[in-house]
Formats: sequence, C-alpha cells, structure tokens
Amino acid sequence: MSQLAILGGPKTRTEPYPEWPVWDQRDIDAVTEVIKSGRWGGFPYPGPKTAELAKKFVEMQGGGYAVPMANGTVTMEVALRAAGIGWGDEVIVPAYTFQATASAPMAAGAIPVIVDIDLSTYCLDTGEAEKAITSKTKAVIPVHLGSNMADMDAIMALAKKHQLIVIEDCAHAHGAKWRGMGAGTIGHFGSFSFQSSKTLTTGEGGILLCKTPELAAKAASIIDCGRAHALGGGPEDESMEFQVGGNFRLSEIAAALALVGLERFTAQANHREQMAAYMDEALSEIPGVRVLKHDIRHTTRSFYRYIFAITPEEFGVEHDVLCAALYAEGVDCWVGYEAMHNYTLFQPQKSRLAVPNAFPQYFDFKSMNFPEAARACEHEAVWLDEAIFRCGPKGVDDAVAAVKKIQANAQELVNTGI
Ligand SMILES: Cc1ncc(COP(=O)(O)O)c(C=O)c1O
Repeated sequence: MSQLAILGGPKTRTEPYPEWPVWDQRDIDAVTEVIKSGRWGGFPYPGPKTAELAKKFVEMQGGGYAVPMANGTVTMEVALRAAGIGWGDEVIVPAYTFQATASAPMAAGAIPVIVDIDLSTYCLDTGEAEKAITSKTKAVIPVHLGSNMADMDAIMALAKKHQLIVIEDCAHAHGAKWRGMGAGTIGHFGSFSFQSSKTLTTGEGGILLCKTPELAAKAASIIDCGRAHALGGGPEDESMEFQVGGNFRLSEIAAALALVGLERFTAQANHREQMAAYMDEALSEIPGVRVLKHDIRHTTRSFYRYIFAITPEEFGVEHDVLCAALYAEGVDCWVGYEAMHNYTLFQPQKSRLAVPNAFPQYFDFKSMNFPEAARACEHEAVWLDEAIFRCGPKGVDDAVAAVKKIQANAQELVNTGI
C-alpha cells in the first residue's frame, strides 16, 4: 500500500486543525451590549466602539491616525482619494496579491500598473517598481504578503525620490513590525482588512492608518457621505464644508468584535511568531524546499499565512500536486493567488468599468510578462494555514512530517500522474 494519503495510505494528521475565528463568551457579551444599547450603526461617525477601536489599533501598531471602515478594499480606495489621486493617475501594484490591491485604484479612477515581485520574499521588487515609474505615477501599494513584509526602506527611498504616496496593503500584516515600526505606520497610509479569514476579524471590516491628522480627516469625510470631520478623523465638524463621499462606515457591532479580538491578538501573534521560526528550521532540512527570506529588519513577524517555496525539479513534483497531497494528509494549505495579470478575479477589461475602457493600453495582459510572479504562482508557492501554527509544535511537526513524506514519495505521484 502507498504511504501517501492521497493514494490511499494513512493520513499524517487525523485530528482537524482548529477553526477560525476563535470566539468565546466575551464576543457574545460585547455584541449583546451593542444590541441592547440601540447604537448598532456607524452614524454619527465615529460611534463609541469605533472610536475606541481606532485608539486601540493605533496603540497596537504604534502610530498613525486610524479611520475604521467597511473593509480592507475601500481602505485603499479612500487612501488614494484622500491623497488627491484619481482619474488617469498611475498606481504601482505587485503582480502577486489579492485582486483588491489592483481594483481599489480603479475604483478611485486610477490605473493599476502591475510590476514583478522579489523571489526571495514574494513582495514587490522595488527595482521593477522604479522601472515602471512615469510622469503619471502618483502612488505605490506594496503588499506585505503572507508571512513577509515588503522592503519598506527601499520603498520609502523610492517614494521620496519620485514623490510618490505609499499605501501599505497590510491585510496580511496586523501586528507586524519593520525595524520596530508597525506595518502601516511607515508609508502615508496603512490598509488593514478585518475580513473573516484575517488574523483580526469582525466578519467584514477594515481600518486605514493615516500618517497625518489632515489625511485622516479627509478619509473620515470620504467614508461618511462627505461630512466634514475634525483633524485625526474625530467627530463631525459642521462648520466645515461637505465633499463628495459615500457610506463606507464600520458598524458598531463589528467594532465591538474587533475590540475583543484585540484582547487576544498579541498572545496569538507571539505564539504564531515562535511557531514560524520553528517551522523555518524544520522545513529547511527537506530537499527541494526553499524557506522564504526572513529579513532581519522584519522585527516582529505577525503573519496571516506561512508561505514557503519548492523547487519542483528537486522536490519531485509541482506545488499544486504537493498541495493536493498535503491536503489529503490532513494539512490545510493552498497554492495561493495567481499572478495578477492571469487572475480570473481581476479581468477588468471584461467589464464596463470606466478605467479599463478609457485606458485599454494598460490592460493588454497577453503582452505582460512577470517571470518571478509566474514562477511563484505557477510552480513554487505553498501557503500553509494559520491554524497549523495555533496548536503548538505538534501542529507544525505534523505539517513538516507530511511535506517530508510527500517529498520522499514524490516519484510515486509522478508515476500515477496526479
Ligand atoms: C492582500 C489583500 N489586500 C486586500 C484585501 C481586501 O480586504 P477585504 O476583503 O476586507 O476587502 C485582502 C483580502 O481580503 C487581501 O488579502
């Protein structure tokens, strides 16, 4: 009989990894309190729970002016609009990310310009970003992907040289730090998602960290139907003029859940960080496995998914086969996103959206070539679920044992044509 679960052999891990989100009586009590208060919504903005969340989130990330809002996509659209970036402006985004990083500029009327990634971290390649800069480039959105952070020193130097606005997409980086500075506090803006899979979740939600109180006031106005807000994004200031805005407010129920999530967050993140270091060491012994670079400037490694790479020729199979086999072994994993220009979720030229219709020359994906992103997305990347790191060394040991077993029996997978 085969050793591999996918071929009928015994599973490496029979006990399921724990579910997400984690919750207890505190979440129920917090939501009940909001329900009983009658103050469910985000109007007038900010509600008491939303204001408390803004304060606590800034304390955790260590800087900025926080404006909580509906999700981690509008956060980026609002950031661009607050910075005065719009119609026809170019915004640089990495080829390896969730589609929101590129759809947010389009929602603001700007054009996403896709550039390749650095293979050692899977984050934006600053050299490639510089090559893509034109007189129309106004902003760059580095993504702190999976378990890594983009090189924020290089990105900030580039931004200074070319006067660009930097919006850090921190949907995967709550609690992470770069040279002791919180993710999202280094650029002009930091965009965070509280969507259900994220390490701080309210089901749906997001928060935007702004560098200055002026930017936060603009962002608060844009998400609150254009009402003018005090510096820092505080209460409405009726003496000031309305601008164009929409309703992207966070509900008080969601804010209450985030506040309870924050009580647990630091302990969860510290534990994940320890387990990630343990995982780095264990995986690096397996032939054909490449542990992504952990830059020493990435001082606190709070992450969303742990990503490692394989060299298929040495490992024995491609990443999709490894993931299928790993999943069968009881290890929750994924091959990750497709490269942005191939991504089925990101095909704006098929829509009647204004930006791709007005600027079709930017959306000719067949002529685009991002070799590093293609290599990561089509052959190499393996995304391990956060739950693996939540159940201590045993959770990690099981995942590593499964990868080892698959590598040792890779030829069998090749022979069976899986
Ligand atoms: C990298 C990245 N950016 C942005 C988002 C968008 O966040 P949301 O789903 O809250 O809109 C997500 C995930 O959902 C993401 O993974």
